[in-house]
Amino acid sequence: LQEICFQMMELEPGILFKITGYIPDGNVSPIPRFHINVGKDEFNLGLHFNPRFNYYNDQKVIFYNSKVKDQWGEEQRDYHFPYSDLSTVSIIFEEKEFRIRLHDGYEFTFPNRLNLKVIDYIAVEGDFCVRKVDFK
Ligand code: GAL
Repeated sequence: LQEICFQMMELEPGILFKITGYIPDGNVSPIPRFHINVGKDEFNLGLHFNPRFNYYNDQKVIFYNSKVKDQWGEEQRDYHFPYSDLSTVSIIFEEKEFRIRLHDGYEFTFPNRLNLKVIDYIAVEGDFCVRKVDFK
């Protein structure tokens, strides 16, 4: 499993960050998934974006959640799952919500439940090889 982590970022509402990578073909974990965690630190997440290719009972679904003091909130699931190999996800942080734009243009919004004023932490972990991260 690969891990990339940014800390102490202080990104303000209006920021867009775009993560490009690819799903490794072969040599994946037996229960392939990856996630992008966004928030204050690893225990307090405004957004957990978690595509599951084949993770226990979950096939081709994206899980969304938040975390406060290391406790998960209420999960949301989205079965729009365009992943094949190369992919890009853009995350737009706004005061009231996160907008998650997948590479096929599809958008999902997830509320800013923690009422975060800035994003300090972004981590990418799992079966996803990051090639590029752009901030706009
Ligand atoms: C759990 C899983 C975590 C996280 C969470 C999201 O079942 O172990 O890694 O994805 O769901 O709600």
